[in-house]
Amino acid sequence: MMSADSISAWHPVARSADVRPSANIVAGFALGQELALWRSADGAPQAWENRCPHRSVRFTLGQVVENRLSCAYHGWQYAAGSGQCTRIPAHPDMPPPSNLCARVFSAADAAGMLWVNLARETAKAPPTGDIVPAGWSFCRTLAVRSDAAGVRDALARRGFRASTTAAAWRGPLGQSSTVAVVLDAQPQLAFIHLWTDAAPDTAAMKTLHIAARSLRSQIEEEEEEESRRPQKAA
Ligand code: FES
Repeated sequence: MMSADSISAWHPVARSADVRPSANIVAGFALGQELALWRSADGAPQAWENRCPHRSVRFTLGQVVENRLSCAYHGWQYAAGSGQCTRIPAHPDMPPPSNLCARVFSAADAAGMLWVNLARETAKAPPTGDIVPAGWSFCRTLAVRSDAAGVRDALARRGFRASTTAAAWRGPLGQSSTVAVVLDAQPQLAFIHLWTDAAPDTAAMKTLHIAARSLRSQIEEEEEEESRRPQKAA
């Protein structure tokens, strides 16, 4: 059985369908870690620190070349899976040093999302069964100008309750039941990943999207109000 620590090590970072095999590179964030998300030709998800080990240029500026990620600056290429540098175009006959690697995190698809494990633990799959009930659909990700603690407080005020894993909050939104996984992305920017019992392409799902956008506005207004409060008191 997984510990609470191992559960919290897995983070949803992007909609699975948005990261296509041997095609695009998507930026992601988890607990302040900036990520480059992509797939090799066989569809295996890749989650790398968004920084080329050569001169720290963001990998998200590069391109996917079959099973390799090619940096935009000097074109060095790194292999899916290991992150090992396999080609330095300026020195095509020189084998790259074996310790020249991108920083690679474990990644897996589950419940419609791509999940990343920042802790490099041995668990091979995210414990989504503990977070998202079977048969529920992924709704959307909301980027909210707040920290995750502020978002969780706001959800609690609206009747959401923390699950036993503490990673997910469960409560009503629109006309639907939802699970919200709340994560810090950057300072003062949190992501809410939402799943629901509403079926895709239904009126209930549309209502939920509207309610989710309204929730984001309300939380941001409450945060702004909160940030003004000490100045008023001074
Ligand atoms: S900075 Fe990436 S190859 Fe030089």
